[in-house]
Amino acid sequence: MSISQSLRLAFFALAGAALWGQPIGTIQNPSGRQSLSLNGPWQILIDPYEAGYYDFHLNPIRDGGLGAGREPAGKSDKFELAFLPNTPTLQVPGDWNTQRPDLLWYEGTIWYRRTFDAPAGAPAGAAAHPGNRQFLWFGAANYQAIVFLNGKKLGQHEGGFTPLQFEVTGQLREHGNALIVKVDDRRYPDAVPPTMTDWWNYGGLTRDVKLLDMPATFIQDYFVQLEKGSRNRVAGWVRLDGAGQRQRVTVSIPEAGASATVATDDNGYATFAFPANLTLWSPESPKLYQVSLAAGTDRVSESIGFRSIQTAGSKILLNGNPVFLRGVSMHGEAPFRAGRVFSEADARILLGWAKELGCNFVRLAHYPHDEAMTRLADQMGLLVWSEVPVYWAVQWENPATYAKAEHMLAENIARDKNRTSIVLWSVANETPLSEPRTKFLSSLAAKVRQLDPTRLVTAATLPHTVENTTTIDDPLGQYLDVLGLNEYVGWYDGAPAKADAMQFRTTYDKPLVMSEFGAEAPFGNHGDEDTAWTEEYQANVYRHQLPMLQRIPFLSGMSAWALVDFRCPRRFLTGIQDYYNRKGLLSDRGEKKEAWFLLRDFYGAMGAAAGAVAKR
Ligand code: GCU
Repeated sequence: MSISQSLRLAFFALAGAALWGQPIGTIQNPSGRQSLSLNGPWQILIDPYEAGYYDFHLNPIRDGGLGAGREPAGKSDKFELAFLPNTPTLQVPGDWNTQRPDLLWYEGTIWYRRTFDAPAGAPAGAAAHPGNRQFLWFGAANYQAIVFLNGKKLGQHEGGFTPLQFEVTGQLREHGNALIVKVDDRRYPDAVPPTMTDWWNYGGLTRDVKLLDMPATFIQDYFVQLEKGSRNRVAGWVRLDGAGQRQRVTVSIPEAGASATVATDDNGYATFAFPANLTLWSPESPKLYQVSLAAGTDRVSESIGFRSIQTAGSKILLNGNPVFLRGVSMHGEAPFRAGRVFSEADARILLGWAKELGCNFVRLAHYPHDEAMTRLADQMGLLVWSEVPVYWAVQWENPATYAKAEHMLAENIARDKNRTSIVLWSVANETPLSEPRTKFLSSLAAKVRQLDPTRLVTAATLPHTVENTTTIDDPLGQYLDVLGLNEYVGWYDGAPAKADAMQFRTTYDKPLVMSEFGAEAPFGNHGDEDTAWTEEYQANVYRHQLPMLQRIPFLSGMSAWALVDFRCPRRFLTGIQDYYNRKGLLSDRGEKKEAWFLLRDFYGAMGAAAGAVAKR
């Protein structure tokens, strides 16, 4: 690393540390812990002027305003910043946009309030287990959240797609705890993503909320995977949180008869490595093992698969064998009801369709999806491209923006580092060439390698095309393991037949994944194949794209844009788009367009050929 790079990283790290209201380090695997679910109806107050937080001179209200949870004290009390028994509710988890028609377009602040009891003996009950610690955990809150408990401000978080949590030990009452969250989903120029995106800005408490009950010293975080470059050794680390951090920790994989016991250091940290005879995970056989960690009174376990992922020249190697990524891209948007995905049921529909399409790979665009999605991809055998919303026109020279991006990346990796299915961490999508941009993104790439040296780093770049030749020469490529390219030959770039003459060259001896290609057509809109917006035109684009992609010698994967039509505020062609991006192979009601069958058959043949090779 050059001097200037280390200086720049130190500068960004400093900026990072100053980031607004840091929550505590991520608690790994919250769904495997003792907890009280706080999902359900929450009271809400819509506050476009943020009058619940700022006074009329825009000074923050000293006691937190609505966050203080004060109630009118009597009939003559004119106090107005209050939730009342008849205050309306919305469901959590859930975006607010699809729960009420008047909120579909709403961008601003909404206050959420939920009361709950934590009686002794109840999971996570106050004084439930003397000495235990309690944490409030939110799967996500889009975009900025300020959290109050019993009138006290716990902290804040920025970023709409990664968890936030706060320790509340000693702050809980047996009965009538008031949890209030100010959620602001407005778009800001210095934010990540910035103000212009191509997806719906769903706001709210969009994922599960839990009260976690942890032993005084608990297993806060761990990383368990195959040792880099090996097939039969497991390696990783574990971190304890609490007074008794110097402890013995046992990591075991009972089904494989493998385990190791290690002692943590003064910071509660220990690494481990031990031999294990394992069936490796792959899309064809997504073998998962129950992995358990035990330290003192704490135990946690979860299903983890073991596989290695590397590159060799322009090949991607899964468990040492070349693999071609047959993929599709998707948003975290639930089909039929629209709105943000927040459950395994939602995820199962989307990933089930990807499987039906013949995919062994999905690109989860353009932000960390709900954990249910990546856990299900582990089970269903789908390789995953995971991305942070460093998308289009980000403020590359703004240290605060860099700090936000780096923090979201760290939170994403922290949450999903044990997800076998994830093989690619993407640091950006379609970002304009400039030196500050490449500096920004190369720092993010370095951060990925620091946090997780076991996976591949990528980004979706824009084509550098002159007439019929596209050259893969984005300077960012030198910092990536795999190049991603979004090309729209036949849609934004020329007529479908242009693909027949296209040439692709690369300046890198690295794999290319065509991370986006496609065309738009609402389901049921028919005409001849030269008529734009018809299924026939969309299919014709695919008919020319697929042979073009097959001609690219260094192509190791592809993900069509997109699996399903999705809501988008910048797509307003009346009677055609109606605020949906119609590049789905399926309508938002799961109806199959003509292009679906083309790609399904193409992947079917490819999968069969790959299967035949694997058998040999
Ligand atoms: C881009 C972008 C997507 C967008 C797509 C489109 O490539 O990455 O987010 O939806 O193009 O234009 O449909």
